[in-house]
Amino acid sequence: MSPPLESKLPAVGTTIFTVMSKLAADCGAINLSQGFPDFDGPARLRELVTEHLNAGRNQYAPMPGAVPLREEVARKNERLYGRRLDPDGEITVTAGGTEALFCAVQTVVRPDDEVIVLEPCYDSYEPSVTLAGGRTVRVPLARPDFQVDWQQVADAVTRRTRLLIVNTPHNPSGAAWSAQDLAQCSALAQRHGFYVLSDEVYEHILFDGRQHMSMLRDEALAARSFVVSSFGKTYHTTGWKVGYCAAPAALTREFRKVHQFVQFSVVTPLQQTKADFLRECPEHYLELPAFYQQRRDRFAALLGGTRLRFRPSAGTYFQSADYSGLSDMPDVQYAEQLTRTIGVASIPFSAFSAVNPPGERLIRFCFAKDDATLVAAAERLARL
Ligand SMILES: Cc1ncc(COP(=O)(O)O)c(C=O)c1O
Repeated sequence: MSPPLESKLPAVGTTIFTVMSKLAADCGAINLSQGFPDFDGPARLRELVTEHLNAGRNQYAPMPGAVPLREEVARKNERLYGRRLDPDGEITVTAGGTEALFCAVQTVVRPDDEVIVLEPCYDSYEPSVTLAGGRTVRVPLARPDFQVDWQQVADAVTRRTRLLIVNTPHNPSGAAWSAQDLAQCSALAQRHGFYVLSDEVYEHILFDGRQHMSMLRDEALAARSFVVSSFGKTYHTTGWKVGYCAAPAALTREFRKVHQFVQFSVVTPLQQTKADFLRECPEHYLELPAFYQQRRDRFAALLGGTRLRFRPSAGTYFQSADYSGLSDMPDVQYAEQLTRTIGVASIPFSAFSAVNPPGERLIRFCFAKDDATLVAAAERLARL
């Protein structure tokens, strides 16, 4: 007889992203649910991968990441945020942002530590905290703009608070931090001495001239933060799962102890490719805001022809929409119905929170799609 299997994550099922993408495929619906582009990354990336594969770069990369890639990441961060990181001791290449988030939580969270998350939030945070033996403390983002209510965050801090997890630009709302947010976060972290895990995977997707408020801009935050980014979002290659974590040397030393037994090292030819491309074509990330702003504006104009209500996103490739004028149905049911009857798949906001404000009626669309896809989706939504 085998011992009883007790789930370590009893509350976790299949993620809503998998559920909605499958439903979209089953119904032949336009899939604006899961966050990935329906267009390919730059052709040069594919050429470079082929070159590296054929040049025999097919064995383990160094555990912290390929040296040229860490150097390029350091260069990029210095250029954008004015902080020179040490590629040897402060940058680790990971299997996407997800692995970096998981390893950062395992690095600092001990049994019974409290970790503050700002809801709604990405669905990997809480299971990572649970597996580390920590306790998730939820603070709601302020409606309707999904700004951080710093007083509420301060009220949630206790002696046990070990880590604050933040995300800007924000999935699912598309909100972005201001310089005041950064200052408030810095003051609070210094006053209470907790660490910060900053999910910045959409750092290059910001609109209307906004600046990305990376923790790396602030001395005190840079000294206590794990900053996570993802090449998948930046280079339209979500399936490659390459990201990185930047953190001060002492934190990075401990982070790598976890990373080396979770992943050890990340696909060699992909790392070499990203390093080459960053060096050859830094314009790509500089031009990304304009690239996505054009899509945001187009999708907003198209949604203007529907009865959904929305505020144009400040960043990310997501647009949220309020359907309360159309239905009183809870959002999971509504998103399913929309997929089955109208043929457009979205993600219900409640999937990003354990506690939802009663009566909130929000769904999230991904607009990282070709124009024809967005037009076809909007035509269907206009029938509502
Ligand atoms: C907020 C946020 N964090 C992290 C990730 C994970 O990034 P990756 O695909 O690089 O693991 C995503 C992906 O959708 C995300 O939206």
